[in-house]
Amino acid sequence: MKKGLILLLSMVLAAGLLAACGSSEKTSKAASDKKVLVMGTSADYAPFEYIETEKSDEIIGFDVDLAKAITSKLGYKMEVKDMDFNGLVQALKSGQADFVLAGMTPTEKRKKNVDFSDIYYTAQFMIVSKKDSGISKLEDLKGKTVGVQLGSIQADKAKEINEELPIKIEDRNRIQDLIQEIKSGRFDAAIIEDTVAKGYFTKETELEGFTLNDDPEAGSAIAFPKDSDLTEKFNQELKKMKENGELDELIIKWFGDQQ
Ligand code: ARG
Repeated sequence: MKKGLILLLSMVLAAGLLAACGSSEKTSKAASDKKVLVMGTSADYAPFEYIETEKSDEIIGFDVDLAKAITSKLGYKMEVKDMDFNGLVQALKSGQADFVLAGMTPTEKRKKNVDFSDIYYTAQFMIVSKKDSGISKLEDLKGKTVGVQLGSIQADKAKEINEELPIKIEDRNRIQDLIQEIKSGRFDAAIIEDTVAKGYFTKETELEGFTLNDDPEAGSAIAFPKDSDLTEKFNQELKKMKENGELDELIIKWFGDQQ
């Protein structure tokens, strides 16, 4: 009886051990099959990338969905790393990120340091201010304090405006801070991408904005370290998604109510 029990126990143990070995072998194999790519982003940019703090601390948005679609088609897993927008190019250069999706515009200056995919979304500059600010056209910015995100093309735009029309330029790392500074009256206005700015207007009802229509549209593209072999692979998948309507589906999902 006792012997029988020991035998039974050891059989159960052995079976358990075998199963454990089997499964650990499987997971380690899967992990090596699927390389994890790190996506760098600045999660202050709804609906491109943001955190719905009331719901979870996960980074969601159009860029995240697009990156997930492309990486999974290519057989990669991915991980999202949040940082300040101004540090993203450097993160690619130092290998902290394999690619960047952050509504980033492929400017000539950035192209000296990183490579870009084709453009996947276009947008315009918007001047955001309080409804009672009296700012309704570019000329109204004369002498005003204008906020921009550090290292963005909106910061370049502010410098360009300043050449014609003296303004006081202030920069912040996060878009949310620009919004706060306008609300508190420290900034008279901010330059923000129209799609992102519009996202604030439903909640921040004292704010409004107008776009600078005469400007060429500022597009977003995926950034990679120079000479990465991912650039061409991602670009091909992006092209397919443009052709088969998958990209439009994502655009409707995330920007639908603004079109
Ligand atoms: N498109 C602009 C640029 O490239 C702003 C992008 C800001 N992105 C962000 N995730 N905060 O400069």
